[in-house]
Amino acid sequence: MRVAMIGTGYVGLVSGACFSDFGHEVTCVDKDASKIEALERGEIPIYEPGLDVLVNGNMQVGRLTFTTDLANTVPEADAVFIAVGTPSRRGDGHADLSYVYAAAREIAPLLTGYTVVVTKSTVPVGTGDEVERIIREVAPDADFDVASNPEFLREGSAIEDFKRPDRVVVGTDAERAQDVMRELYRPLFLRETPMVITNRQTSELIKYAGNAFLATKISFINEMADICEKTGANVIDVAKGIGLDGRIGKLFLHAGPGYGGSCFPKDTLALVKTAEDVGAPTGIVSAVVEANASRKKRMAHKVIEAAGGDVSGKKIAVLGVTFKPNTDDMRDSPSLDIIPLLKESGASIRAFDPAGMDEAKDLIDGVDWADNAYDAINGADILLILTEWNEFRALQWDKVAKAMPGRLVVDLRNIYTPHEVARQGFTYHSIGRAPAIA
Ligand code: UDX
Repeated sequence: MRVAMIGTGYVGLVSGACFSDFGHEVTCVDKDASKIEALERGEIPIYEPGLDVLVNGNMQVGRLTFTTDLANTVPEADAVFIAVGTPSRRGDGHADLSYVYAAAREIAPLLTGYTVVVTKSTVPVGTGDEVERIIREVAPDADFDVASNPEFLREGSAIEDFKRPDRVVVGTDAERAQDVMRELYRPLFLRETPMVITNRQTSELIKYAGNAFLATKISFINEMADICEKTGANVIDVAKGIGLDGRIGKLFLHAGPGYGGSCFPKDTLALVKTAEDVGAPTGIVSAVVEANASRKKRMAHKVIEAAGGDVSGKKIAVLGVTFKPNTDDMRDSPSLDIIPLLKESGASIRAFDPAGMDEAKDLIDGVDWADNAYDAINGADILLILTEWNEFRALQWDKVAKAMPGRLVVDLRNIYTPHEVARQGFTYHSIGRAPAIA
């Protein structure tokens, strides 16, 4: 099959590379000429483990190409994927669909032979209808169907998620389009991957419902963690105790400083807006959005309380600023709320992140960026763990003790057990567990 992938952002690039690895002939198109030139040189603009090898390998065998030339790519394609950004619209939280509709308008006059236009971007229910209307308006005689095929890629494990998904969701009533989509995902049939084939609206909603449910699960366990802190209960055991119930499931019950990233914050907000628009407002998702936003801010106060109510003049070593490990993505990261609030409270911050510092430098002012974890810890009064990168999971405590004069550790990711840190002579505060005093 020949695939045109419009947009070489995170989703477009990963999906394009994986489809080419499935054996299809993929051309990734982007308007940004410098990005395309860099990709042609094999330079990957995002941090995603394994993506460089996948892209370069498939480029070498000629199955994956990059271009700015839509006009020569679309006519050849059996499937044209729209994988452009759908950011939150400033002010109202609606998904901004202008890039999706612009892509539809540009694709339309180029469609040649039967083509499936697939929305890969996360788009609110009804967007596929509008994409179809636009194409029909621009090219009334075009032979095409519009299908929805949401992505469920986690940053940091996106290739694995694409190649070994729990399921593939395809939304279209058109049998011809279903056949094309089955062919594209054929390698997954060998693994007996379930394929949910449904109508377009359902497929579009599945993506939002999935992310909103996971965000709800996280917010739920975060609230249980707050109750644990007040009552002496342990949230890790609560998560285990409920997660072993097959009806609940053990994943996404890790309490922390609140969810961030490119999907959950944006998609929960967009779902709230869609629900309002269609007259079926969602109390649950609205509450999750609010709970998560206020939680991130509250985390700064948790650090201040752990420090005895005042951090002015204190040196805080921050380990991790990205919204989760194995990514350089800073979007809606809790660190963007926590660090400025600590600075406003008079603390000075020295931070280290294995991949996120370049991006973070533009987003957080007045932080002293360190070369490595111990360099950040050097001279600190407080050690604050914000992201659970593997390399922070095995700190050498004797080295930490020598480097920092303070004896307070605040771990917002629960990567240590309280007694093991206390045994090293530190007072340890974490999420949903009683503090351990040195
Ligand atoms: C998510 C979805 O998982 C993916 O299916 C979707 O397509 C895109 O959004 P991603 O944003 O890359 O992926 O990261 P994910 O691993 O889901 O984590 C999202 C946020 O939730 C992170 O801030 C993470 O720290 C937080 N989280 C996750 C928790 O706080 N606790 C958990 O148990 C799991």
